[in-house]
Order: sequence, then C-alpha cells, then structure tokens
Amino acid sequence: MTTSGTTIPVARTAADLRATLSGWRKTGARMALVPTMGALHEGHLALAREARARADKTVISIFVNPAQFAPHEDFARYPRDLERDRAILEQAGAADLIYAPDVEELYPKGFATRLIVEGPAAGLESDFRPHFFSGVATAVAKLFLQIGADFAMFGEKDYQQLLVVRRLVKDLDLGLDIVGVPTVREPDGLALSSRNAYLNPDQRRTAGQLNRVLKEVGIRARSGVSIPQAEAEGAAQLLEAGFDRVDYVAIRDAASLAPLRDVLSPTRVLAAARVGAVKLIDNMAV
Ligand code: PAJ
Repeated sequence: MTTSGTTIPVARTAADLRATLSGWRKTGARMALVPTMGALHEGHLALAREARARADKTVISIFVNPAQFAPHEDFARYPRDLERDRAILEQAGAADLIYAPDVEELYPKGFATRLIVEGPAAGLESDFRPHFFSGVATAVAKLFLQIGADFAMFGEKDYQQLLVVRRLVKDLDLGLDIVGVPTVREPDGLALSSRNAYLNPDQRRTAGQLNRVLKEVGIRARSGVSIPQAEAEGAAQLLEAGFDRVDYVAIRDAASLAPLRDVLSPTRVLAAARVGAVKLIDNMAV
C-alpha cells in the first residue's frame, strides 16, 4: 500500500504497465483503475480514495484523450502537468501506479477503430458534442483491456458518461465493476472541475448558481410542475443568473436517461450551460 510521501512510479508505455501489473497479479491483488485526464483536484482524489477502499492496488491513468475533443474544443490548451499531478497523488497517498501514455502509445500510427455508443449516449451532451462519448468509450475500453482491473471509478459529476461506461462494460463483457462516486463540490455548490480554472471572478460567481438552479428545478418537478415547464424555468433562471448560453436543462430517468412524463421513478436533473467560453455541467437526483 502506498503511504503519503512515497514516490509513485509512472508507466509511460503499455509494456511498462504490464511489467508492474504482472507482479501484482501474482500476489492476487485486487486492482482498481481511476481514468482521468489529469489536472487533478479533490474530485479525482475522491475517486482514488474509493478505489483504495475497494482494491489492494490503484492505478490512476492520466491521458488527455484527443478522440473525445472536437476540433474547436480545448484539446491543445487542456492543462497538462504530470509532475504536479504526481505530487498531488503522492501527498494524498492515493495511488500505486500512474499510467500516463502518449497519444501515439494509445493510438499508434494506423489506429482505425472507434466504438459507436447508443442508449444512454443519445441526446444531452451528444446533441452538442456528437463524437464525445464514442471517443470516451474508445479510450476507456482500451484502458480497461490494457489494465484488466477489477473496478473502475467514475464520478457522478459526469453522469451521462458514467451510464455510457456502465453500458459499454455490460455490452462488451469487459468484466469489471463500474463504481459511481458522488460529486465533490465547492462550498457554494459548484462541482469541482479542471475547467473551473478558466473562469474569471465574475464568471466564477455565476458558475456557483448552476447547482442552486438545478436544486430548484428538482423541487418544482417534485411539487407537481410539469416536466417541460420545470425544464424551461430552469433554463430561464440560468440565463438570469448570468449564463451566456444554456445547452440543456433536462429531467430524465436516472437509469436510462430516457425522457419522462412524471417523476415517480428514480429521476435525475441534468444541465449544461456556458459562461463565456467555459462550459459547465452538473446533475443531481430529483
Ligand atoms: P476527467 O474530466 O479528468 O475526470 C476523471 C473522472 O473524475 C471522471 O470519472 C469524472 O466524472 C470524475 N470527476 C471530475 N470532477 C469530479 C467531481 N467534482 N466530483 C467527483 N468526480 C469528479 O472524465 C474524464 O476525465 C474523461 O472523459 C475520461 C473518463 C478520463 C476518459 O477520457
């Protein structure tokens, strides 16, 4: 077990990774994977702690996955600082191995495969980022197969992603447990996100309203306001709070993300909105 202050080894290639994992496997260790794109914060550390609680060995992958960014998105300027991330993990005693492959390692020259995902991947984020979940699924399937972990941790912060990955694992018999971890928030309710670093102080104040509005949408839907009305009021409130654009405010079935007529079954409210060029997403149980 890693303790605070020890050096966490970094595997840069699948071959390095295999060398460490085969040693662990011989001891019968249960392994957990926490896939990330780096720029680590307390939300990622909550996943790592959950991994630690369930498994003997924790691998954190750090890979800014080009397959899930559209050409106009922030792939080039996404924050990358492996030494900072490593220091955070070492300080928290939160991992036994960091897997940080290059793009060419995960997608070597000639790579020509991409998973198509439907079901929970349809709608919401996919209406605005059509190739996003296909890119996520392709990368995480590769990581799952390379690592062979017993568990992988995903944040409820990216709720649609969590359901897409659960479906992927089931459909392809990937044979690991996907564990959902509750969203870690700032005191005003803003979900921690690597992209919050792009917000100026005014935008940061607006961003804190997203969670409040979602709560109110949930309360109104529960109190009998129709779903379309509760969604529309939520979108209007976000614009009033200073958001520049609302991608969606949606009340959906919590298991399938299908649209609903009422909130009798487990229900989730999900939203995506932009302040300036920064896109924020959040969701919660209704
Ligand atoms: P990234 O945005 O780095 O997030 C990695 C994991 O941390 C995801 O499962 C995400 O839901 C979780 N997470 C982020 N912020 C959180 C918060 N405030 N509370 C709890 N969990 C949080 O999501 C990705 O990377 C990528 O799409 C990836 C799955 C790594 C595939 O490339």
